[in-house]
Amino acid sequence: MMSFLRNTWYVAMWATDLEIGQVVQRTILGEPIAIYRKSDGTVAAITDQCAHRFAPLSQGTVCGDRLQCPYHGLQYGPDGSCEVNPHGNGRITPQLHLRAYPLVERHTLLWIWMGDAEPAPATIPDFAHLDEDAPGIVSKRDWMVIDVDYRLMADNLLDLSHVNFLHDGLLGHDGLIDAEVEIDERIEPSGITTLAITRTCRDVTPPYLFDLMYRNDAAPVDMWAEMRWNAPGYLRNHAGVTQPGAAREDGMIVIGSHLLTPINERQMMYHIAAVQLGAVAPVADDEVAETLSHLRRFAFEEQDRPMVEAQQRAYDRAGGADAIKPVMLSIDRAPLRARQILNELITAERPAVPVSVG
Ligand code: FES
Ligand SMILES: [Fe+2]
Repeated sequence: MMSFLRNTWYVAMWATDLEIGQVVQRTILGEPIAIYRKSDGTVAAITDQCAHRFAPLSQGTVCGDRLQCPYHGLQYGPDGSCEVNPHGNGRITPQLHLRAYPLVERHTLLWIWMGDAEPAPATIPDFAHLDEDAPGIVSKRDWMVIDVDYRLMADNLLDLSHVNFLHDGLLGHDGLIDAEVEIDERIEPSGITTLAITRTCRDVTPPYLFDLMYRNDAAPVDMWAEMRWNAPGYLRNHAGVTQPGAAREDGMIVIGSHLLTPINERQMMYHIAAVQLGAVAPVADDEVAETLSHLRRFAFEEQDRPMVEAQQRAYDRAGGADAIKPVMLSIDRAPLRARQILNELITAERPAVPVSVG
């Protein structure tokens, strides 16, 4: 049985997808959660299962800062406590209270804390480039559900050699296979480990999507992509193209955000968005911007998704992720190291097993 890291933040949804008075359902680490925005604009998350007869509260109604059950009208506060019982003498017993989840709105995302330890807002990773007032959003704040163990999607993103095969012509091509690769691991001031994998190609033809953003008529460029990973599944790909030999800042820079949240052992939510920075102004043409968003989603949904879901089916046929071991290549160093870091964190938060001395 797969274990999840619990005392950490997961992306529950785009904050911009939740309006005042709206309630939505999300399943995270197998737990059904009702997320709602109160009348004062702040957000709350409680168990999506009424204590009385287990109706889904996510089908209920937001009443001020409370959530009303759609079945018989019990009302729950943002801390999960039952505050209104419209029946009989209106008595409220402790058994009616539900679990509430710490939820923080930051960088246009809602971050949920799934563990029992005290939540640590300082450990929310820095996705400030997605802030409302950040310059040059070139793609939608998008998301999709993928039927895959989220670690397989992290493997995919931590080894970008696949773009030259799976996304041939769109994000890569065979002239980019022979990239220089560097792997760097560092501990941030917040105590979080960042793994960064950089691929650099010099004097090469840009793939179609990059040329569309750089607008250089497919003339040769230098290309780089630095994928940064933090456990359990936050990835930022700082990538760009410049004139051959020029500094990164003088070219076009795009930060692709990939936020992976496990729904359960073999399903995940995939939140994506890309921001364009650097000396080259983002495409002003709405039609081109729309094409970019469409192509980006196409790459993830129509190319990566069928591939990782097929991998998942191979694991399922064999009896699970621990039943078969893939043969590793040189391109797998970063994905392997990321899994190792994640496993160490999961092991560290398990309670120590008491040793009895007889
Ligand atoms: S099931 Fe919620 S009040 Fe009855
Ligand atoms: Fe991909």
